[in-house]
Amino acid sequence: MTYEAKKFDLPSLDGISDESVKQHIGLYEGYVKNFNAISTKLVEYAKEDTEKHAIALGELIRRRSFEFGGMRLHELYFAQFEGGTKALDEKSKLGEQLKKEYMGYFQEYLKAIGNMRGPGWAILYYDPVGKQFLAGFTGEQHQGHFVTLPIILALDVWEHAFILDYGAQGKGKYLDAFFKNLNWDVIEKRFEQLT
Ligand SMILES: [Fe+2]
Repeated sequence: MTYEAKKFDLPSLDGISDESVKQHIGLYEGYVKNFNAISTKLVEYAKEDTEKHAIALGELIRRRSFEFGGMRLHELYFAQFEGGTKALDEKSKLGEQLKKEYMGYFQEYLKAIGNMRGPGWAILYYDPVGKQFLAGFTGEQHQGHFVTLPIILALDVWEHAFILDYGAQGKGKYLDAFFKNLNWDVIEKRFEQLT
C-alpha cells in the first residue's frame, strides 16, 4: 500500500515565511515519495531473491523507517499550525496535566530539548500506562523514540526548518516563532483522545 502526501490548510505564519513553509512541504512530500519507492523496491527484491539482494534489503529496511518518520512527523508538525494560533487553555485536560507535571516550565524545557545539537525533533509523548508525559529528542526522524508512545506535540529542529528565515545559527528565534504559531486546540485533541 502506498501513502499519499497530505495537503495542509495553513495560514501565513508569524516568523516562519511562506517560502520556508513551501520548501518544507516539498521536503515532506519527498519523504512520502521515498517511502513508497522503497516499499515497492523491497517487495521486488524480496520476491526475486532475498539472498542475492541481502545487502540492499538490509539498507532499504533501515532507510524506510527514516522516510516513514519524516512523513509522519511532518504530518503532525504542519497540522499544529492549521486553524491559526490558539493559546493553550489552562483549564483544559492538557493544560491541567502540563501544569501538574511541568509547573510552568514546559515551553522552555521543550525549547531546550530542541536546542540540542544535531538534526532531529523535540517531541512530547504521552504514556497512557504511566499516565504521564515524556519529552524527548528524536535523532533524525526515527531514532531515540519512546517506543509505543503516542506523540502529542512534534517540533522539527532540523536546519531546513529555520535556515532560510534565520540562518544556521537562528534556531532559538525559530523556536520562539514555532510556539507563537501553535494551535493548541490540535494538541489538546490529541491528548484527549488518549485519556
Ligand atoms: Fe522538517
